Order: sequence, then C-alpha cells, then structure tokens
Amino acid sequence: MRALSGIQPTGPFHWGNYFGAIQQYIALQDECDDGSYYFIANLHALTTVRDKDKLRQYTLDGAIDLLALGLDPDKAVLFVQSDVPEVTELCWLLLTGTPMGLLERCVSYKDKLAKGLKADAGLFTYPVLQAADILAYDATVVPVGEDQLQHIEVCRDLAQSFNHHFGETFVLPKGKVLDQSARVPGTDGEKMSKSYGNTLAVFDEAKAQRKQIMRIQTDSRPMDEPKDPDGDVLFDLFKLVATEYDVGRMAATYRQGGFGYGDVKKALADAAEAYWAPARERRAEWAAKPGEVREILAAGAAKARQRAADVLRRAQQACGVRGW
Ligand code: ADP
Ligand code: TRP
Repeated sequence: MRALSGIQPTGPFHWGNYFGAIQQYIALQDECDDGSYYFIANLHALTTVRDKDKLRQYTLDGAIDLLALGLDPDKAVLFVQSDVPEVTELCWLLLTGTPMGLLERCVSYKDKLAKGLKADAGLFTYPVLQAADILAYDATVVPVGEDQLQHIEVCRDLAQSFNHHFGETFVLPKGKVLDQSARVPGTDGEKMSKSYGNTLAVFDEAKAQRKQIMRIQTDSRPMDEPKDPDGDVLFDLFKLVATEYDVGRMAATYRQGGFGYGDVKKALADAAEAYWAPARERRAEWAAKPGEVREILAAGAAKARQRAADVLRRAQQACGVRGW
C-alpha cells in the first residue's frame, strides 16, 4: 500500500482538518509497506489565496503544523506541491482527455458558482490537477475528508479512460475516509470550515481557544431536561478530545439532565487544552528552526520528483509525446 494526500495551505488548520484528514495521514505512515507521500497543495491554494506573502507563510506553516502533529519525515515523504513540476505536466496530459461535463458536476466548482463567486479555469480544472497529484506517485490509497471523495472518483475515471485509450499506464487509487469523524461540527453547529468562519484552530493559544469554545451556540432547551448526547455540538466536539472515561461520564450527565452548558463548555476547553498541549509544544520547537523544515521539504521534493518523473515518462510514452 502506498498512501498519498495533500492539504491546501489556505490558513491555519482547524479541528475539522485534523480529525477529518491529517490524523489519518499520520496513522497511515506506519501502515504503508510501500511508502507514504504528503504534500502542501500550494498550487491548489493559488485558486483562492491571491496574496504572495500569505501563501508563502501558510505553506511553511502547513509543513510545520504537520511535523508538530506527528508526521515523521523518516517514515513519510513530505514536500511542497509546486516543487514537483512533473505533476503540472502530467495534468496537461490528463486535461486533454477530460470531458467538460465531468468537471461541471464537481461540487467544489458548483458550490462556488452557486455562491455567486467568479470561477476561473484553475478552479474548474482543480480536480484534474488533484488527479495528477495522485497518479504521479502510483498511490494506491488516498486518505481524505468525505467531501473529497468525488475528486478521487474523478481521478479514477480519468486514469481508467487514459488506460483504456493508451494502454495500462496508471495505478487506480482508492479513497479512504475515517467514518466516525468524517464531519466535524463548527462553533455554529454547521460543518466546520474556514469559509463559514466557525472554526476552532488547532494551534490557537489555549486562552483564545477557550474563549471560542465559550461562544459555541447551544440550543435553548431547559438545562435540567435529560438530553441525548449524540448530535449535540458540544458533546460531538468533546468526544474528539476527551478521554474515553470522561466521554462516558459526560454522556451519563447528558442523560441525567440537570447540568449547565457552561460546565460542558468548561470541560470541553479543559479537555482540548490537555489534548493539544504536546503538539503545541512540538510546534514551538519546529517553528524555531525553519531552516531545518525547509531542508526536510527539499529532501522530500527530491524523492517525490524521482517517482513523478518515472510516471510522467510512462504516460508520455503511452500517449505519443515522447519517443517520436
Ligand atoms: P475548509 O473547509 O476549512 O476550507 P479544506 O477544504 O481545506 O477545509 O479541507 C482540508 C481537508 O480537511 C479535506 O480533506 C477535508 O475533507 C477535511 N475537512 C475540512 N473540514 C472538515 C470537517 N468539518 N470535518 C471533517 N473533515 C474536514
Ligand atoms: N483538494 C484537496 C483538499 O482541498 C487537497 C488536495 C490536492 C489533495 N491534491 C490532492 C488531496 C491529492 C488528496 C490527494 O483538501
């Protein structure tokens, strides 16, 4: 098994990013018998971040965050997407066989149009670059949040049709989603997302995080009524960061009734502080040595390029733009 995944550097990572995606990468680095590849998808981020200083900062911060969260450069290949130009070349080969209708159906693009945002060709063809990202490393498993599964399907479709037309060239990947945390709720109860402004950032200072937790919207049912914990925003978030023992006790408290949401919020803030403390410490250590982080990324890119160059050559041969 060879895992690959990318994450866009569009701002500080939040709990949804961690529990929905990053945690899975980190777990997979120990399970892959054929390596794992993780990259900061700065070319994809360019479709939304149009400030060069911010994009640079978010790119380096993204790598520092992944290292702090446990990504181990001795086990996994960590790199920045734009450091592997073979992928954008491969993207063109795939684009020439991509039906417009397939991309028109992609939610990433449809959602932006529905919100009245102006779409550009980069956003429209975003899933094809993602397909190239995946196929360039012969990845077999792609750990992602649930919302990305459609893009994995597009990747499989494009690879299959290329293979069908030009002969076996690409390895077909599978998406992998962690079910129990596929959709982390935000502070307003909707899906946590940067674009909804309802996030809890992983690396916020403990004090700032506590403030945000205290602002989480709760329902207006009388506090002394027994309540089903499942589906309650505070409980759902608590489950992610508290110990199993504390989760059991909290569930019993909900079912008994007679508790205050303020107490639940306080328990959530305490659990969150304890849960993130080790990663926060590691982050401070990595942030103090950006030179070393850049070296890790350069070494990762060199390994990634070797593999991508092989696959690109294979694809070029297959479709006739090499060896003529
Ligand atoms: P955002 O919605 O904040 O812009 P991204 O689209 O950059 O987040 O998501 C990066 C990764 O994190 C994706 O794989 C996505 O599926 C996952 N993810 C984002 N938000 C959540 C969430 N609320 N619950 C679970 N996974 C999430
Ligand atoms: N589109 C993904 C996201 O928004 C990021 C991404 C880019 C990616 N290329 C990828 C994920 C390849 C998995 C595989 O989260």
